Amino acid sequence: MAIAGKRGTEVLRDPSLNKSTAFTEAEKQALGLIGLVPDVTETQDLQLQRVNLQLGQKPTDLERYIYLINLLDHNETLFYSTIMSDPAHFLPIVYDPTIGEACLKFGHIYRQPRGMYLSMARRGKVKEVLRNWPERDVRFICVTDAGRILGLGDLGANGMGIPIGKLQLYTACAGVPPQYLLPMYLDAGTNNEQYLHDPLYLGVRKTRPSSDELYSFVDEFVQAVQEVFPKCCIHFEDWTGVDAVHLLQRYRDKYCVYNDDVQGTAGIVLAGMINAAKIKVKNLSDEKYLFLGAGSAGIGLADLLCSAMVEEGLSLTQAQSRVYMFDINGLLEESRTDLEDFQKPYAHKHAPTRDFVAAIDSIRPTTIIGVSTVGGTFTQKVIEAMSRINERPVVLALSNPTDHAECTPEQAYTWSKGKAIYAAGVQFPPVRLNGQTFLPGQANNFYIFPAIGMAIFSTQASRVTDEMFIEGARAVADQVPSDLLNQGLLYPLQSNILETEIQTAARVAKLAFDSGLARVARPADVVGFIRDHVYKPEYKLETARSTVA
Ligand code: NAI
Repeated sequence: MAIAGKRGTEVLRDPSLNKSTAFTEAEKQALGLIGLVPDVTETQDLQLQRVNLQLGQKPTDLERYIYLINLLDHNETLFYSTIMSDPAHFLPIVYDPTIGEACLKFGHIYRQPRGMYLSMARRGKVKEVLRNWPERDVRFICVTDAGRILGLGDLGANGMGIPIGKLQLYTACAGVPPQYLLPMYLDAGTNNEQYLHDPLYLGVRKTRPSSDELYSFVDEFVQAVQEVFPKCCIHFEDWTGVDAVHLLQRYRDKYCVYNDDVQGTAGIVLAGMINAAKIKVKNLSDEKYLFLGAGSAGIGLADLLCSAMVEEGLSLTQAQSRVYMFDINGLLEESRTDLEDFQKPYAHKHAPTRDFVAAIDSIRPTTIIGVSTVGGTFTQKVIEAMSRINERPVVLALSNPTDHAECTPEQAYTWSKGKAIYAAGVQFPPVRLNGQTFLPGQANNFYIFPAIGMAIFSTQASRVTDEMFIEGARAVADQVPSDLLNQGLLYPLQSNILETEIQTAARVAKLAFDSGLARVARPADVVGFIRDHVYKPEYKLETARSTVA
């Protein structure tokens, strides 16, 4: 007898079938497992207790990350039941901020392959490479060339940790079944000298090619995906800002693609802005925005924010006139000659300046948004300037990992004397100030891209649109209870993330049906339809006993 053609040690070596110490006597008998596993039959709860015991003995989060990835390599169900048992505790271990450290050391902590490595040396052969993947129905490829990993720069092949982690969040946060997910590193070399000289580095030891060469290889990849995995959505992640925006423009109207750094970040920050405006009893279009950073995250957000203001009744030009940006060379303004096309709508008439505080004093924004990758750039003077001109200054310090945040919540609340409405890109603990407790929210994309993913997965939507991210943002914002909103919390609690994402996915799925992008019939109950698609981290063998033959 066999399951999926496997028995004995083959079952134990397949992480999607392995139950470790939870096989029943009947399963052990049927599958030739007697003697290969201990004689007990443990419940999943007991297995979870052992996992937690072992995790508790690990000295650092990086060690816990390595342990959990190892668990995933052996027992996928137990891995996901662990993460989903306490998302607020485990998400920072499997994803941000631990993932940043895991990527920096990826070649050193590497144990076994996960996902696919597609190097530019395979030009002309991409379809053949994709066909080596064992699953035929792939619904999401998360692909990076690791040009800009988190705020850490060019990490080359070490960036593979990111697509692996991102796709785990599709499952852990929104219940997209793991067998449909394919992490991919598109190896275009690296300009990271340290890795080029590290004997344990796992990527091609070449510097990066020109944009034209890179884009023509990405063209081949995107077209090959359409043929090999026709229902697949391509999720671009952690490319450099310029590549991210250009590649999105290149494919978004032709294929089912999106870029999480551009659209996911934009969506989740927009959710925070919607709630900040709610606290102030204002609309988005009443606010004025100044960005520190005009890369992929900044531009994506500015564009989506403008679309949302247009939905509120402004013209596009009026919406853009409410958004200013500042980058490494100072304020984006009309006389700048170094701007990309996609930055120009935000370069208004203004005297050149490299002084952010002076820009605040002259532009008088109500909201500042840090997407600069540089920690500490929202100085005391910046926060004080914002507090001078605003009753409730909105301060979004989004760069990550933790030490890249433009300011900490403690700094924002202290320097603004408790007036700031604050969120960060990473999770900070609550802050006590003058007898009051403030709850800094985490503008983390994981509230939104897994939900968008679930909506696309379940409806088989043919395109990913900005309207989906705006609707996702509204859905996330609507799920913060008013008592928490009053304590300054802009985002829902992570402890209930699966339910939050199911509700968000349902609203986005409704939009996909309304806009004719869905490729399945519209169900009467869309929330129930989403629930029917949700992966549950429960062992299948016993229920699938009829298939044991
Ligand atoms: P990017 O590299 O495309 O852009 C960075 C921008 O910051 C550029 O415009 C650059 O000129 C500017 N910049 C750099 N140093 C500066 C300085 N000292 N002063 C002013 N501007 C400066 O990076 P990307 O993709 O836009 O990401 C930016 C940050 O946003 C990263 O730290 C990333 O971790 C964070 N992010 C946060 C997310 C979240 O969930 N909160 C999601 C995606 C990105």
